[in-house]
Amino acid sequence: MNISVVGTGYVGLVTGTCFAEMGNYVICVDVNEDKINKLNNGIIPIYEPGLERIVIENNKADRLIFSTDIKNALEKTDICFIAVGTPMGEDGSADLQYVLAVAEEIGKHITKHTYIINKSTVPVGTADKVRETVSRVLQERGADISFDVISNPEFLKEGAAVNDFMKPDRVVVGADNERALDVMRELYAPFTVNHERFIAMDVRSSEMTKYAANSMLATKISFMNEIANICELVGADVNKVRVGIGSDSRIGYSFIYPGCGYGGSCFPKDVQALVRTANKNGYEPKLLEAVEAVNYDQKKSIPRKIFKKFGEDLSGMTFAVWGLSFKPETDDMRDAASITIVKELVAKGAKVKAYDPKAFHEAQTCYLKDVEGIEYLDSKYTALTGCDAMILVTEWKEFRSPDFDEIKKRLKNPVIFDGRNQYSSKKLHEMGFEYFQIGVMP
Ligand code: NAD
Ligand code: UGA
Repeated sequence: MNISVVGTGYVGLVTGTCFAEMGNYVICVDVNEDKINKLNNGIIPIYEPGLERIVIENNKADRLIFSTDIKNALEKTDICFIAVGTPMGEDGSADLQYVLAVAEEIGKHITKHTYIINKSTVPVGTADKVRETVSRVLQERGADISFDVISNPEFLKEGAAVNDFMKPDRVVVGADNERALDVMRELYAPFTVNHERFIAMDVRSSEMTKYAANSMLATKISFMNEIANICELVGADVNKVRVGIGSDSRIGYSFIYPGCGYGGSCFPKDVQALVRTANKNGYEPKLLEAVEAVNYDQKKSIPRKIFKKFGEDLSGMTFAVWGLSFKPETDDMRDAASITIVKELVAKGAKVKAYDPKAFHEAQTCYLKDVEGIEYLDSKYTALTGCDAMILVTEWKEFRSPDFDEIKKRLKNPVIFDGRNQYSSKKLHEMGFEYFQIGVMP
């Protein structure tokens, strides 16, 4: 099949590459020339395990093309994915300007029947807006060209994106006719084996499914963080409580890890966007509002512990931060807990020495660009030298089993604040560390 993917970010690049890997001809389009130039030179603009090899192989095989020319892409293909960003707008709702700008371009340039597939996360009713926009532009052109607008939300996780796309738990497709559904079944057949994982529904339910899924996952995390906060007060250990409840198959073990708050490009904005959708329709979603409020507060849980231990004036103190990305195996720092933690400490006069295996560039050039008092080190141990305490923010594999003797030797005080509950408190206490976790009374 001939496919264009408009928006070559995390989702668009993975989507386009995985379709090319299955033998399709794919043109990935972006307005960002620098990104497209890099990709054409074999440089992958994001860190995502397993992606680089298949991008380069498919590009070399001329199945995967990178371009800024949407007109040419639409002429050569009849399936067009929209995978541009839908960031949080000023009032918290999803900003659809990029999606609708692509719809305009599609209206301007299609020359034959095109399946327009919305892969961006968009509020219910967006497919209708895309349809209206394309129809209006076609009318302005005086062109009589048919098209379908299909909803196909994406459920991949960063850090495991290629695997999630190649072996999805499910493929959700919302369409208003059987012909469109058949095309989507054929497209996804190599990924869904016998279509068992292909879930067809109407467009609005499909759009809503994406928000419901992310909000459910975010709710699990905020719920667990709230339980953790109560555990700390009553002397229970949330690590044990987690295992105790996860063993109930109705609850399950996944997404109940307490921590210093969820981040990433999606949970924060998607929960907020669903709240706004509900508000606009006259409903106040109290649970969803609480999910966000708990998470906002949870990002301050580590600073709170630090203030309790060292006081609120941290001038003259330095803290080592291990991990800046919002989760391991990605360089993405969007809404990362590290941003709140670093800013809170620096605001109280502290200095920070940070180490992250992949997110340095993002931190330095964007998310912590304006923060003074932060130094970036090139190894986890050098970041510790002379620091008053260590803070684990992101559980990268290389942080999971460190040399604690080395940590002790380098720190001024043997104090660890762990935002991801990675270590054995018994072992650390025996070694003479003060060890602060989430959801465990120190
Ligand atoms: P991103 O910011 O990484 O990429 C978006 C890309 O679109 C950018 O490269 C940008 O230059 C490009 N773009 C913007 N306007 C354009 C236009 N008019 N024409 C061509 N390109 C244009 O975003 P992302 O993380 O890939 O997310 C895309 C969508 O997918 C969002 O709606 C997001 O909520 C959703 N989503 C993201 C993830 C994830 O893990 N990142 C997972 C599932 C769903
Ligand atoms: C999430 C969803 O898992 C994907 O299914 C979805 O497609 C994507 O959002 C999206 O719509 O963008 P992602 O944000 O890449 O994926 O990462 P997750 O693994 O879900 O982690 C999100 C955040 O929750 C991280 O900060 C992580 O540390 C935190 N988390 C996760 C916890 O605090 N506890 C947990 O038990 C799990």
